[in-house]
Amino acid sequence: MSGSPLWYKNAVFYQVYVRAFCDSNRDGHGDFPGLTSKLDYFAELGVDCLWIMPMYPSPLNDDGYDIADYYDIHPDYGTLDDFKTFLHEAHRRGLRVITDLVLNHTSDQHPWFQQARKSKDNPYRDYYVWSDSDQKYQGVRIIFLDVEKSNWSFDETTGQYYWHRFYASQPDLNYDNPAVREEMKNVVRFWLDLGVDGFRADAVPYLFEREGTSCENLPETHAYLKELRALIDHRYPGRVLLCEANMWPEDVRAYFGEGDEFHMGFHFPIMPRIFMAIKKGDAADMIDILNRTPEIPETCQWVTFLRNHDELTLEMVTEEERQWMWEQYAPEPRMRLNLGIRRRLAPLLDNDRRKIELANSLLFTLPGSPILYYGDEIGMGDNIWLPDRNGVRTPMQWDDGPAAGFSTAPPDRLYAPIIDSPAYNPARVNVAAARSDPASLFHTIRRMIAARKQHNVFGWGAFSWADCDTTAVAAFWREHEGARLLSLNNLRDETQTITVKLPLPSRAPKTLLGQAEQLSRTGNHLRVRLAPLQFIWLLF
Ligand code: GLC
Repeated sequence: MSGSPLWYKNAVFYQVYVRAFCDSNRDGHGDFPGLTSKLDYFAELGVDCLWIMPMYPSPLNDDGYDIADYYDIHPDYGTLDDFKTFLHEAHRRGLRVITDLVLNHTSDQHPWFQQARKSKDNPYRDYYVWSDSDQKYQGVRIIFLDVEKSNWSFDETTGQYYWHRFYASQPDLNYDNPAVREEMKNVVRFWLDLGVDGFRADAVPYLFEREGTSCENLPETHAYLKELRALIDHRYPGRVLLCEANMWPEDVRAYFGEGDEFHMGFHFPIMPRIFMAIKKGDAADMIDILNRTPEIPETCQWVTFLRNHDELTLEMVTEEERQWMWEQYAPEPRMRLNLGIRRRLAPLLDNDRRKIELANSLLFTLPGSPILYYGDEIGMGDNIWLPDRNGVRTPMQWDDGPAAGFSTAPPDRLYAPIIDSPAYNPARVNVAAARSDPASLFHTIRRMIAARKQHNVFGWGAFSWADCDTTAVAAFWREHEGARLLSLNNLRDETQTITVKLPLPSRAPKTLLGQAEQLSRTGNHLRVRLAPLQFIWLLF
């Protein structure tokens, strides 16, 4: 494990849904002992850090993002001791682990809320946000649009409304209350003391509310997050905070502060634009959004991703672009959810290996540290007929056995059905087969990770668009301490011959990954012929 406190600058992350990964006790749910038994898989793939989705006791109305106890493990997943063993075993293999930290809300089953809703004078009442009217904070957008009609829900017992930005069963905590601010710091200390390497901080823009605002990204929210960061810098150097703020780049910029707030932040808007680029065969939308992305402090890092456990969010696009994305990528109404698309990477990209690799090439070479979503490295499919976002959270497919090697429980006892569609069922898509086939997607991704590990330019390199004669190829430079990486990605399903202007002096390039049909150089011009949807990474 690299001892540098800036390890996250050049790390590859892997998002794990514990329930889906491996079931050790035949109850149909993945658990920590199961996950521990699979740790060598991550070592083989080469990832540096696992992000564990919420693993706390929860009624699971939002799959664990509704926490009923911040200090324990959901019984489906094992015990706190099982978690400690997992963490120890991960660390022994040089793997770091970050967990989800849900600051904004609890479950309505949390004892604080249970107390709070007993009476208006209950000592916990002020842990949540109450109002006599549902007219406060008018105009604040609703996030779970398909289910919720208001951010207020009425509490019968006490005759007041409580505030919630997500499901009604997820009441927002009241950050104006100093006791709440301290409680959540205790939660942070508890898990850091246990040894976790940091947190993916969930839904952070919404901590405070103020009349007349969007109740998002408020200065008070930033001030509290800076306090959390100070706590980490002071007592837990080397641990990280990753910001989930589904916002425009200039708004996310604020979450890095002057290097004194978050270490990392998801770059949400680039994600749909990678899909636009591949569909349109044109990098223009990617160019626009990256040109509009501000610089961040050197010790900070963007985090890029193609898919995750949620719907492919279309919040960071225009209305027109959203309609276009839905038409192109979610032609069936069932594929749509809230403002997004509930599909996995492989089905989105027509299960076309070239497109999947191209998307990953962009993921791995654009600025930022990439996160892989479990199963996408083997091209897993989805099941749009399952409720909510469950269709992208189905059991990991380890082999072609009855329950895909995920569990030895009878298939009807699994928490979710194994994908059984013709193109994606375990006989077609599984880890064992992918491992034994040197030409599989799994091995391409493994090689991409290995290349990143060998060269700091991926994590640290300054970014610039290459001087290239077409936007049908996404062509860009990354540059760090004399090393120059040129990433060329043919977005079209037709051969492209391009000319890229090289800065002088330039060494002869070495191919790190991918291939070109032809590569020739005259002076400071590089001529490259790329097959349809082909990428190449050149190191100068
Ligand atoms: C984040 C999570 C999502 C969850 C929501 C509420 O957006 O990614 O899964 O439902 O926060 O906690």
